[in-house]
Amino acid sequence: MSDKFLIKGLNNKKILSGKIRVNGAKNAILKAIASSVLFEDGFKMTNIPAIEDVKRMFEIVGKLGVKVEKTGGENYSIDTKKIKGTDLDREIAERLRASIVLTGPLLARFGKVSFPVPGGCVIGARAIDFFIEGFEKMGASIEFKNNRYLIKAKGKKLKGMEMFLKAPSVTVTETFMMAGILAEGKTILKNTAQEPEIKHLADFLISCGAKIKGAGTTQIEITGGELLKGKNKIYKAIPDRIETGSFLLLGSLCADNLEITNCDPDNVGILISILKDAGVPLEINKSSIKIKNNSKIKNKEFKSVNIKTKEYPGFPTDLQAPMIIFLTQATGESLVFETIFEGRLNYVEDLVRMGADIRMLDPHRVIVKGPSTLRGRNMESPDLRGGLAFIIASIIAKGESIIENAYFVDRGYEKIEKRLRGIGVDISRISND
Ligand code: EPZ
Repeated sequence: MSDKFLIKGLNNKKILSGKIRVNGAKNAILKAIASSVLFEDGFKMTNIPAIEDVKRMFEIVGKLGVKVEKTGGENYSIDTKKIKGTDLDREIAERLRASIVLTGPLLARFGKVSFPVPGGCVIGARAIDFFIEGFEKMGASIEFKNNRYLIKAKGKKLKGMEMFLKAPSVTVTETFMMAGILAEGKTILKNTAQEPEIKHLADFLISCGAKIKGAGTTQIEITGGELLKGKNKIYKAIPDRIETGSFLLLGSLCADNLEITNCDPDNVGILISILKDAGVPLEINKSSIKIKNNSKIKNKEFKSVNIKTKEYPGFPTDLQAPMIIFLTQATGESLVFETIFEGRLNYVEDLVRMGADIRMLDPHRVIVKGPSTLRGRNMESPDLRGGLAFIIASIIAKGESIIENAYFVDRGYEKIEKRLRGIGVDISRISND
């Protein structure tokens, strides 16, 4: 049984204040750890938060023979000189979708990889047909036995190929960008995802010898070469744009003067534009965002807005849940269209039980009518983003809330209760051990 959070609501008072620091980006770090299997030696890492998904990814590569050492604070050193395995640990890989990005580098380096069917989670089926298509194009054979995929390169090396992605999948883009680094010849990927984490990964790998062009655009070209060298190289994670957006939305609803530090406002441009139009008083600086004199504005003075989730630079699906909390407090009707995942609106039932006015039109669309008064209640985090949205809703609400499955939130937000207490939230963790 996982821990739970106990939260005393502010009953719509805007009293949070101070500074809250954004940590390194989970969805950048997980792929950088996976890229280590492309290195003959390894590299150092910094700005790495101790979140559960990072710990699990370190465990998975550790079981393959990668030596991971915490060198203090948020710093690690990775040594890949004795890497030997190519079978992903079932227990962990089934619960960590991101582990799938290891398949490309392992297959490219060792000519084989085996992995379990990645766990579908509450937000959607999480298909892997694009991965299978790509491996076949690179000259690998695919077998499925005892609920594991066994992939083998037919020749000595994977062959470079051209693939037009049927959807700009983030992990598909990253997996084949990395596989192409050790494949024979050129690999051209079209309709690739443009998330900032992808360009950041490519820039680091290029600094270690990879030949990659176009990362961050809709077409990426990789020229195959030798194992990468990471000696004296330090991977520094970029700020987590989903943490940044989550704190922005919390601050808009519950803070008077709040500074979000160590962030990159450029990576949350669409949310800043939406919140400014809605009437939130924001001051944007190079690596921080300030919410200023916000308590004199009632949440019901904020204007509602229609939201459609899209691949970057569109509205991020990972901020859809916290955004809906904002819309329950703004005045007006908002249509929210979740275009990417078919199961990512299920959590709204719990918000309705808190008092929100949300109508589901179909699995991808809801109408949110605000403002509504939220009352605290007991809820279960469905996943890490829904869990954080429940924390925001509980902070606004009247009365007390208990949120189960704290582990889900711990997957992506380090010591969230400590950081929120630091800006005035009445939140504590109830441990179950
Ligand atoms: C990444 O997931 C992120 N995860 C997700 O963040 C994020 O929500 C998502 O991108 C979209 O931005 C990581 O980076 C670890 P997809 P990913 O493949 O890459 C379909 C979080 O909370 N698809 O882009 O797994 C798929 O069904 C997580 O941090 C296929 O059909 O998402 C979906 O409809 C949640 N076949 C669409 O593509 C495939 O083979 C996008 O999924 C692969 C994907």
